[in-house]
Amino acid sequence: MPIMALPTGRSLDSCIEVIEGAGLPSKNLRSVGRNLVVDEGGYRYLLGKPSDIPTLVSQGLAELALVGNDVTDESEVELTELLDTGRGRCFMAIAGPPELTLRFDGHASSLMGLRVASKYQHSARRTFESWGVQVKILHLNGSVELAPALGFADCIFDIVQTGGTLKANGLAVIKRAQDVSLRLVANPGILQLRWETLRGTVEAMKKFVNARQTEV
Ligand code: PRP
Repeated sequence: MPIMALPTGRSLDSCIEVIEGAGLPSKNLRSVGRNLVVDEGGYRYLLGKPSDIPTLVSQGLAELALVGNDVTDESEVELTELLDTGRGRCFMAIAGPPELTLRFDGHASSLMGLRVASKYQHSARRTFESWGVQVKILHLNGSVELAPALGFADCIFDIVQTGGTLKANGLAVIKRAQDVSLRLVANPGILQLRWETLRGTVEAMKKFVNARQTEV
């Protein structure tokens, strides 16, 4: 039975869209309620917090997973990416009070020591380092928009989808970073061992995604 981990929260609907489009069983997923293990049509779906999905895969509890590359980039776990589904699109960005743009328009040295709040502490540090800037990272588990509002960070490094949360908190995108979308990933060792069982699932998803891309 293929076991696939899926993130709870706002990207679950996009995951179900891919699963359904690929012809995999999805009826029980559509009405999942508070269940965290969903068995249907020869598949087992495990519903986990997005940041825990890489652990479920690396520990061998799930063979495949759909998860955003914001999460896989932040995790220290080695995963094989099999497919960019193109769904759940959003992007990582530095956001802050609009006047912060001036500081970003200047030389990189004007950003040294910037206080950055983020759930994505490793990705935030890497992104600033790629611009040659050392910053102070403040790690929060959510609601990071609070930090600049309360004055204990200059900006945030976070995902932006509709931009509604930024707007509601008086913040704006200062600099756009990586694009994010849902990826199909696997544990490299398990993929090799179980390829004959998993191949049909992976190929069905690829076929669905590629057909949709051709249509657009
Ligand atoms: C994410 C992210 C932003 C928000 C962006 O938070 O951290 O806060 O969504 O989405 P938007 O651009 O559509 O407003 P999430 O809802 O996952 O909750 P969290 O802040 O508790 O992590």
